[in-house]
Amino acid sequence: MAYRNTLKALHMVPVEIDCGPESRFQLTAAHLEALDPPPAGVILASPANPTGTIIEAQELAAIAQVCRDRGIRIVSDEIYHGLSYVGPARSILDFAPDALVINSFSKYFSMVGWRLGWLLAPKAHLSRARAYVGNLFLTAPSLSQHAGLAAMDARDELEGHVAVYRRNRELLLAALPDLGLRQIAPPDGAFYIYAYVGHLTDDSLAFCKQLLRDTGVATAPGVDFDPVEGRHYIRLSFAVSTPEIEEALRRLAPWFAARAAETAI
Ligand SMILES: Cc1ncc(COP(=O)(O)O)c(C=O)c1O
Repeated sequence: MAYRNTLKALHMVPVEIDCGPESRFQLTAAHLEALDPPPAGVILASPANPTGTIIEAQELAAIAQVCRDRGIRIVSDEIYHGLSYVGPARSILDFAPDALVINSFSKYFSMVGWRLGWLLAPKAHLSRARAYVGNLFLTAPSLSQHAGLAAMDARDELEGHVAVYRRNRELLLAALPDLGLRQIAPPDGAFYIYAYVGHLTDDSLAFCKQLLRDTGVATAPGVDFDPVEGRHYIRLSFAVSTPEIEEALRRLAPWFAARAAETAI
C-alpha cells in the first residue's frame, strides 16, 4: 500500500499486478512479460510483506532478464534479508547489477522506529539520490547511526532473534490448520503469515477489529495490502516472544471455533 502512495506522491502511475496464491503471492517474469506496454519500473520485495514468500534465484534471474529486454528499471526492497527459514534470499544485484536496492535497520537489526536505512544505487543515480535524501530527510539521525554501528556487531543477539522467529513460525504453522486456517503460503522469510479467512468473513478490517476486541490479539487486515482480495485475508506477525505466541494461540483457539460455528449456522 505504501509503495502505491509513494509513487502517486511522485506523480507516477502505479500499475498493480495480480500475484495470487498460484505464484505464492510473488511476482514472476511471466507477469512482467504480459504487461503491455512495459512499465517504467518494477518494485520487488523478497521476502515480502505480508506473505514472507521469497522469489527463487531462478525466477529472479528471469525477472532481471525480462527487465533488461524490456527496459524496466528494478527497485528491490530487501528489508527482510537476514530473516529467512529456507536458505538465504538472493539479492537482485546478483542478477541485475544496475538495480536500486533498499534496506533498513528495522527488521533483521530489530531497530524499528530508529528511522535508519540505506539505498544502493548505480553511480549514475547518486547525485539525484543525494538530492532526494537531502530534501526529504536532510540526514539520518546521528544517534541512530551510532546505534546501528553497535547493532552490526551484535550478531549473536540478532541470530538469537531469528531463532525465536523460526520457532514461532513452526508453532503457528502447526497450530493454524486447527483454527481452520488452512490456506496459507508458508513464509520462507520475514515474520508474517498471510492467512485466508474468506470462509469466515468478507470484511477483514471488521474481522481484525472484533478479534482484537474479544481476545487482545492484534492482526493486520488484508485490505491494508490488497484492497480487493485482501478482504478475505489477515496477516499474523510472529516478531514477538515465543510465550506471547503460545498465549495468542490459547486465546485464538476458542475464538475461531466459535466463529466457525456461527458461520456454519
Ligand atoms: C517490505 C517493507 N519495506 C519497507 C518497510 C519500511 O520499513 P522502515 O521504514 O521501518 O525502514 C516495511 C515495514 O514494515 C516493509 O515491510
